[in-house]
Amino acid sequence: MTRRVLVVDDDAAILEVLEMRLMAMGFDVMATRDAQAALGAVEDARFDLALLDLRMEPMDGIRLMESLHERQPRLPVLIMTAHGTIETAVDAVQRGAFDYLTKPFVRDELRAKIGRALATRRWARDRERLLAVGQTLASSGVMERVLDAVAQATVETTEAERCVVFQLQQGRLLPMASAGSPPPSWPALETAARAAMDKGVPTTFPGIETGAIVAAPLLVQRGPAGALVIETPSRVEPTEDDLELLALFSSQAAVAIRNTHELERLRSGALAALGRMATQVAHELKNPLAGLRLYARHLEQRLAKTGDGDGASLAQKISGTVDHLAAVVSEITAFGRPPELHRAPVALHALLDECVSFAQARITTEGIEIFRIYDPTAPPQAMLDPRELRKAFLNLILNGLESLAPGGRLTVTTAWAADTKALTVTIEDTGGGMPDETLSRIFDLFFTTKPQGTGLGMAIARSVIDLHGGELSVHSVVGQGTRVVARLTIEPVPRRAEGTAP
Ligand SMILES: Nc1ncnc2c1ncn2[C@@H]1O[C@H](COP(=O)(O)OP(=O)(O)OP(=O)(O)O)[C@@H](O)[C@H]1O
Ligand SMILES: [Mg+2]
Repeated sequence: MTRRVLVVDDDAAILEVLEMRLMAMGFDVMATRDAQAALGAVEDARFDLALLDLRMEPMDGIRLMESLHERQPRLPVLIMTAHGTIETAVDAVQRGAFDYLTKPFVRDELRAKIGRALATRRWARDRERLLAVGQTLASSGVMERVLDAVAQATVETTEAERCVVFQLQQGRLLPMASAGSPPPSWPALETAARAAMDKGVPTTFPGIETGAIVAAPLLVQRGPAGALVIETPSRVEPTEDDLELLALFSSQAAVAIRNTHELERLRSGALAALGRMATQVAHELKNPLAGLRLYARHLEQRLAKTGDGDGASLAQKISGTVDHLAAVVSEITAFGRPPELHRAPVALHALLDECVSFAQARITTEGIEIFRIYDPTAPPQAMLDPRELRKAFLNLILNGLESLAPGGRLTVTTAWAADTKALTVTIEDTGGGMPDETLSRIFDLFFTTKPQGTGLGMAIARSVIDLHGGELSVHSVVGQGTRVVARLTIEPVPRRAEGTAP
């Protein structure tokens, strides 16, 4: 797109020279000796730059500039002045001119100052659009997606090389979103982000290769939540205006972050309420189901007596289905109050084997390796609740397997400490791991990041381990994997009880 330049000078000869030079530089030029004509032109079209002579009659360059700015507030103006009036030129800059040019023109100076003024213009160009984009972004969405959009829009509207949005999470700055070309150095961007967060205002640093790094803090009520960092190409030099622009954008990003946090809190509150409701509904279903089961059994017996084999087997199917429903209902109500443990001698390694093969059958991911490293010195049996423990370990193993990509590895390890009677079961995966935000909520009822998940697995596992007087801990690194450790204090089964099935 050709850029439009307005030139106003009451000296016809200078006007002609300038017009020719600017056209040779590839600009679309409107040259006039008449201030009123210039004002009219700005009413009709947007200009990218204006060159105004300082000494003009009846309206001087500064007054003309101010009138032009009333019509196009961000129009960069270069004031032209002859030697000896530098003070007035400085005054012009203070009153809103971008820079001044001394007459007669030095070729390189003209080119350089026009270049700089245009670069600035580019930065400021889409301020209104930016505001609109920001407001849209702030209104909704999943945080990662919002931040991606912020980064993308920043690169597009500022013509920066790249943009990275950092977020502060438990003292660490994590790059949450980026756009543009990948940065040659992350630490430089991170350092800029930290400095801007410390200062609380947008800050400029020299770039890694060329250009500059500009960082603007993301401020939420509690303080800086991160920073929006851009790196500019060499030809674009950030100015005060740019800093203001970035501050504007980063404040929109901060609002987006805050809104998303709030939304997530609301969502988890709603889910918890839903959970309580489900528990209540399940409770209400229990009695009618018990009745139904009784009638079905009755029917089955009667039909069997009258010799109606088909009828009896239908009735049997009904009571079987009702039994299944009743089991589901009691699983749900179990969240209301923890179940009592029914301890029996349990061969823990066999129970773990069972869970592994069951979980394996449910997973379709190819090429997964499962390792079992059992401590041979562990007591063969201990008094535990096999039903409950099976639920807990199955969930933990399933979570591990579900996190794996093809070629991933799951390891189940046991370790026995005879002195403390502590049996440690470790389930470790080489899956995607989880960020701190997820980690802090995995035990919440109904918290899930899976499209088909119920968010009950971890809550079940912890309550089972707790009931056994044990401890469950989780350690996870994003991109590396997760290690879940269940520490149980167990009572080995005396010799004579050994051999009983788990
Ligand atoms: N080994 C793991 N690796 C990565 N993320 C995990 C792991 N274990 C748990 N998580 C995270 O914790 C969340 C909660 O786990 P939880 O088992 O409670 O529910 P779920 O697996 O989503 O659903 P389900 O009720 O089907 O088990 C998961 O959605 C997942 O984000
Ligand atoms: Mg699970």
